[in-house]
Amino acid sequence: MTMTDTATPGSSQGAASDKSGSDPLIQVENLTVRFRTDEGLVTAVDGASFHIAPGEVLGLVGESGSGKSVTAKALMLLNADNSVYDPASRMIFDTGSEKIDILSLKRPKDRMIIRGGAISMIFQEPMASFAPAITIGNQMVEQLQLHSGMSKARAKEISVEMLTRVGIPDPAERFGQYAFEFSGGMRQRAMIAMALSTNPRLLIADEPTTALDVTIQAQVIDLMKDLVDEFHMGILFITHDLGVIAQTADRVAVMYLGKIVETGPVRQVIRTPAHPYTQGLLNALPNLEDLDAPLTPVAGDIPSPLERPPGCVFHTRCPVFIPGRCDAAVPEMVNVGDQHNAACYVAADEKKVPA
Ligand SMILES: Nc1ncnc2c1ncn2[C@@H]1O[C@H](COP(=O)(O)OP(=O)(O)OP(=O)(O)O)[C@@H](O)[C@H]1O
Ligand SMILES: [Mg+2]
Repeated sequence: MTMTDTATPGSSQGAASDKSGSDPLIQVENLTVRFRTDEGLVTAVDGASFHIAPGEVLGLVGESGSGKSVTAKALMLLNADNSVYDPASRMIFDTGSEKIDILSLKRPKDRMIIRGGAISMIFQEPMASFAPAITIGNQMVEQLQLHSGMSKARAKEISVEMLTRVGIPDPAERFGQYAFEFSGGMRQRAMIAMALSTNPRLLIADEPTTALDVTIQAQVIDLMKDLVDEFHMGILFITHDLGVIAQTADRVAVMYLGKIVETGPVRQVIRTPAHPYTQGLLNALPNLEDLDAPLTPVAGDIPSPLERPPGCVFHTRCPVFIPGRCDAAVPEMVNVGDQHNAACYVAADEKKVPA
């Protein structure tokens, strides 16, 4: 059996919701990314499988270092030169006219489509994404022309329109300003406008709200939700905050030490988390009904990626660890609910499914 959230026996993929029922925009199977380092090969992503349908937001959540950004960058082939993709990795992207195997795109020209064309990315720190000495507008125009070959006048028209769409006041004037003249929230909106101007089918948002204060964060999240509805694109929304995922995503994939340990519809995963790691992440969130209750972060430290634990990667921190079982073999993803899967022997036992 492959470790996928679609091929798992018993999952009723396609029956439940419109969104996840349509043909996936992106289908990732067994994505394994390692890095050559002086200390040896580091595994950053280990056999990750997921899919995103048009109009669907998949939340990818996990602690720092779990492999979220490496997964995101893999989709655009943006990982550093010391990265090594396992040959079993597959990332099939539907461009709208054909299905392409992302890892087979070797020439820069072929990669354009996944780099700011049909796939766009917005980052945590928008300041880093804009060149300081070029106006926001000119950067948007350049990006558009690069991907579409349209005239400068038309590219400007679309850019101003996009700035308007994301709620930037006086867009024509803002078009001629530099990134430092924008507030943090405005810059994030401008980056979203730039990412969307090429009309991508898949938007990757890597911690897009982490650097923002809570009010602006909520506005940016609302904006992104409106844009999904309007443009019907798929979104991979990355954050370490399950609270943000609950507000944003349709489905969630929980990542720990490079492995996706649980996937499912967001409400179901939050109400009935199956994997002890997901349960730990949820216990670490503040309880609004009892603000005096102590927060209980997941105990222990994340092991070094150079010394990945055998068996279940979470067993060294797991409160329900079964010696001799959890540290002996890697648990496979099993179906624990409607479109809800987890890779945990204990969860499988509880659901009485063979793991
Ligand atoms: N070029 C590289 N060379 C070596 N190791 C790398 C490289 N890039 C990433 N890694 C390692 O891959 C692992 C996953 O990193 P990644 O940036 O994906 O984490 P993350 O989940 O995005 O964390 P954060 O929440 O802090 O952004 C880390 O252990 C990181 O050190
Ligand atoms: Mg990251």
